[in-house]
Amino acid sequence: MLERSDLAENALQALHDEAYGVPFDPRNLNHRTMVFTGGRDGRSLNGDWTFCVDLLDTGLRQKWYAMQPMAPEERTEPWDYDPYDGETVPVPSCWQMLKEKWYFFEGSAWYTRPLDMDAADAEDADRRWFLRVGAAQYDCKVFLNGVFLGNHVGGSTPFFAELTGHLKAGRNWLMLMVNNTRTADRVPMRNTDWFNYGGVYREVELFAMPRTVIRDLFVHLAADDGYDRIRAAVEVDGPAAAARLEIPALGIDVAVPLDADGRGAVEVDARPDLWSPESPTLYDVVLSAGGDRVSDRVGFRRIERVGDEIRLNGRPLFLRGISVHEDDEATGKVTGEEDLRRRFAHARELNCNFLRLAHYPHHERAARLADELGFLLWEEIPVYWAIAFDDPRTYADAENQLLELIRRDRNRASVIIWSVGNENPDTDARLAFMSGLARTAKSADPTRLTSAACLVNHARKRIEDRLAEHIDVIGINEYYGWYEENFEDLVDIGRNSAPGKPVVISETGADGVRAPQGPARGLFSESYMREVYEKQIAILRNLSYVKGMSPWILYDFRVERRQNVFQRGFNRKGLIAADKATKKEAFHVLSAYYAQRRAAAESEAEDGR
Ligand code: GCU
Repeated sequence: MLERSDLAENALQALHDEAYGVPFDPRNLNHRTMVFTGGRDGRSLNGDWTFCVDLLDTGLRQKWYAMQPMAPEERTEPWDYDPYDGETVPVPSCWQMLKEKWYFFEGSAWYTRPLDMDAADAEDADRRWFLRVGAAQYDCKVFLNGVFLGNHVGGSTPFFAELTGHLKAGRNWLMLMVNNTRTADRVPMRNTDWFNYGGVYREVELFAMPRTVIRDLFVHLAADDGYDRIRAAVEVDGPAAAARLEIPALGIDVAVPLDADGRGAVEVDARPDLWSPESPTLYDVVLSAGGDRVSDRVGFRRIERVGDEIRLNGRPLFLRGISVHEDDEATGKVTGEEDLRRRFAHARELNCNFLRLAHYPHHERAARLADELGFLLWEEIPVYWAIAFDDPRTYADAENQLLELIRRDRNRASVIIWSVGNENPDTDARLAFMSGLARTAKSADPTRLTSAACLVNHARKRIEDRLAEHIDVIGINEYYGWYEENFEDLVDIGRNSAPGKPVVISETGADGVRAPQGPARGLFSESYMREVYEKQIAILRNLSYVKGMSPWILYDFRVERRQNVFQRGFNRKGLIAADKATKKEAFHVLSAYYAQRRAAAESEAEDGR
């Protein structure tokens, strides 16, 4: 029989053994270590990396990262994995989509590749080297030549590790350990309605920079009521008394004085042609400081809330939108130019001027394309459903993902709304957590609107959520006709509610599968899905405070929990099937409604009303 002291000792030993991960979780790679990369030429590190899944974190326990490359016959101790040898995978990719044996794998995985450096480069004391990972789901630990440089949490935002001082002439070895395990304290947490992909699924690049590095540039219309002043805020890391801002097409070439921390801001008179979906004008912007130089292409516009109106450049706006996930039948969460352009082409066919990029930051290319093509965007962090709202580390993780998203995209005219979450229970802890995030968003970027996808109060049959007073636009997800069967309740909710702020129906819809894979009628039939859209539109179009909608969703998408005979591992609410080609009947219903809305907006613009 074990004595009490033995039990305690065993428990402590077990805790100690399982604390192996603590030194590898400083979360030091975050929004504060980001670098501005606009206009920089990076060295791509995409391509084949050796790869191994590691369900039990054996790589940390046995220090695989410290192993030296050598031929098997030279090794003097037995080994369980050789990071320099074996299976490879392409980066970027989601491991689930590469081999059947990894489809449901959830845990850690190791990526390793060589990084060859010329002596002149590696030994140049006037250069700094930064690794940029576009995104890795969820926790990514960075090792270079066996040295742990830090880790990043958050599965959809870019992060940087400075390699300066750790690179040697000749061959270096870079290792990334990525873990996608769903846990109750992550953001999102264990339960979501989208597939839990894992891996380094966006691009990896190496950037060489001078001793002085431009870490941030935020340029926009000044926050007053006019349209004749531009403000630029900069952050420079390294010796420089001032920066230089140039916008040649506007005749701007000014100095930006910097304080001791390398921060500075300037406001200049200018009358840019305003950016809008109908006229997506972009200007070349150049910033230089201490030998460093970055650039961007920026549209100037104003988005604001006035009462229950959303106004773009002073004119009332109706958001003709659609929700989209970052998901593909073949590539999972990896997206590319063709996939993005197809997404926007389908949105154009729907007569959209707006997309809700749900439920996490999408690839940065999406907002750049939206800037060029003329679409408005809602961007969101995955504070989804029942997050650990009372856990400070969870809050820090969510806030960091929000700040990384804002720093990455706040020069994008297309982005008009930062959303701090989706369908969260109205508790005190959630209110504190999400109102805090809304304040953070406003503080980091006072030029945009804040929102969240909230739920109606079904019992009181009205739009009523305590978070509403802390955000500019009230997103509402409602599924009358699907999860809620009685459309009359939606009519009551519409009549009973007086939100006093603009409402966007951020989700509504129904599953529909074309026969014979789907039923001829009733739930999951294409015809019933069309009926839901017809009835929803008939009710929503009469609610004056509804200033937009982004029905759920453009394409069918993969998700583990949807396993009935019609879903077969996919959520089938897409207006277009998972082939991203087959349009369902409801597609044409929404497109026709938005065509009416678009014609009305165009005639109002012509009348100058
Ligand atoms: C919810 C949720 C979505 C989900 C959708 C559905 O509103 O926000 O992420 O996919 O409903 O149930 O299809």
